[in-house]
Amino acid sequence: MGFESVKEKSDRYLFQNYGRIPLSFTHGSGCYLHGSDGREYLDLVAGIAVNALGYAHPDWVAAVQAQAAKMAHVSNLYYVGEQADLAERVASITPDGMDRTLFVNSGAEANEGALKLAVRYTGRSKVIAAFDGFHGRTSAAMGATGQESIQRSFEPLIAHSYGYFRFGDLESVKELMTRDVAALIVEPIQGESGVHTATVEFFKGVRDLCTDNGTLMITDEVQTGIGRTGEWYGIQNYGVVPDIMTMAKALGGGVPIGAVNSTDEISKVMTPGSHGTTFGGNPLVCAAGCATIDIMKRDGIVPHVKEMGARWMADLKAIDSPRIREVRGCGLIIGVEMDSKETAAHVQRYCRENGVLINVAHGGTIRLIPPLILTDAQKDVFTGLLREVLEQLRGRCPRAGSSPPENLLKRRSASSNLLSGWYH
Ligand SMILES: Cc1ncc(COP(=O)(O)O)c(C=O)c1O
Repeated sequence: MGFESVKEKSDRYLFQNYGRIPLSFTHGSGCYLHGSDGREYLDLVAGIAVNALGYAHPDWVAAVQAQAAKMAHVSNLYYVGEQADLAERVASITPDGMDRTLFVNSGAEANEGALKLAVRYTGRSKVIAAFDGFHGRTSAAMGATGQESIQRSFEPLIAHSYGYFRFGDLESVKELMTRDVAALIVEPIQGESGVHTATVEFFKGVRDLCTDNGTLMITDEVQTGIGRTGEWYGIQNYGVVPDIMTMAKALGGGVPIGAVNSTDEISKVMTPGSHGTTFGGNPLVCAAGCATIDIMKRDGIVPHVKEMGARWMADLKAIDSPRIREVRGCGLIIGVEMDSKETAAHVQRYCRENGVLINVAHGGTIRLIPPLILTDAQKDVFTGLLREVLEQLRGRCPRAGSSPPENLLKRRSASSNLLSGWYH
């Protein structure tokens, strides 16, 4: 279907709750998406940190096809072999002792389950969370999302957190922490609000405060989990072990799955009838999850992410431009904060016109969250484009809708032939 038909039907039949970029795609391959406009795009968004193995990875596709041909869904009324297999794999990549997993369908639902678990385990009801965090759009997840713009107008439905601390500021956590707080929920790196990292001291301090007060520490690994930061889980970069972790996005390599992970002792309070979901951990998504983790282990994707991320950060930090305020991140979640939203939008448009898709997070920060199989040559395509557009912008205001010079488009299509495929 051509883009105009897709748009016309979407405008006619869908809720209009997304502000969409005027593009649609027919298929993907590796780090590339193929547009209905006939163009090929290098995708540095990966379905918002979902497609860890890129698009249509042959081994992942084979596993999902084989499972679909056998049994896509069966109820949690029975034992589900593929679910047990995935839980075993998750236990193999989580910190020691975090061996129990509950499968759900999304990141928000994982956080909702984690908060229920903490409330039930501690017998307390208060939750504290970070300003500018993001935990999803369901009731308690929205309540833990310390952003007025997300909570506004849903008041009666929000299970509000008791209070919000400033991410990275241990004193502000101390001010909220008491012995009646059930859970503290925090992202290891705040993704949605612009890729903000914190210090080891902050996270170690949070861990100690939680332990001292009998509060459960939940790290939301929905975006940072499954290798994104160069460790299996983002919190491992800080040398801290939480009590509960939530994950989703990359876990299934492209199918909708989420999970709550914790210790044997904590998980025990979720007795039969306490929580559940029809689709949670069905054979299809669990087969996809098993394939994702197996391929990542087999191909050394996590160390690859660490090395690739370090090299990319160094390249980006070396760009000398007054338009760049800061480059921050870890592994393949990198934020390039520009001097304004307008500059970030201009860079995004310029990249798109040159066949590269990037995301802009809150506050004018370019968020790079590509497939984890990204190559050096692919990352260099973006770095080169960024250098070029910033050079063009020297001494000028970013203009809406400016087009790249013809020779750039030609260069881009030559390099795309060179780079297509899988692991290079
Ligand atoms: C850190 C974090 N938590 C939770 C969510 C919500 O996940 P989902 O959209 O799958 O409900 C997101 C989504 O972007 C996220 O980045």
